[in-house]
Amino acid sequence: MYSAKVMDHFSHPRNVGVIADASGIGEVGNPVCGDIMKIYIKVENNIITDIKFQTFGCGAAIATSSMATELAKGKSIEEALLLTNQAVAEALDGLPPIKMHCSNLAADGLRAAIYDYKKKNGLPLDGLEPPHDCCACHQ
Ligand code: FES
Repeated sequence: MYSAKVMDHFSHPRNVGVIADASGIGEVGNPVCGDIMKIYIKVENNIITDIKFQTFGCGAAIATSSMATELAKGKSIEEALLLTNQAVAEALDGLPPIKMHCSNLAADGLRAAIYDYKKKNGLPLDGLEPPHDCCACHQ
């Protein structure tokens, strides 16, 4: 059911944890299953130099977050904003269709962290939306 890459990232997730002096933090909930994701980014000269995640999501959420953080690290803010859940799933050699919603957590969490970073630094939001408020995350 899962590709070897999904199993690898699920068993050995990269970039799990917290960044104490993060430039931006994004917290989102998955409206489909109610699972939660928190992403921390460190930004220097418009480049994401470090990124970490914590999730209460399932195995597919862990694998996609691990891959998304690997793909986002070293990218500019503009490049990171182009990272879609589809691209993350493709980098993992695909996800079962029923698990595609899990990959939204990483992509949405990253966008939320970038939103937070831009807001804190008074940077133009360029149409970036605030993270949607998921009732499951704020109880
Ligand atoms: Fe909730 Fe996968 S089932 S993130």
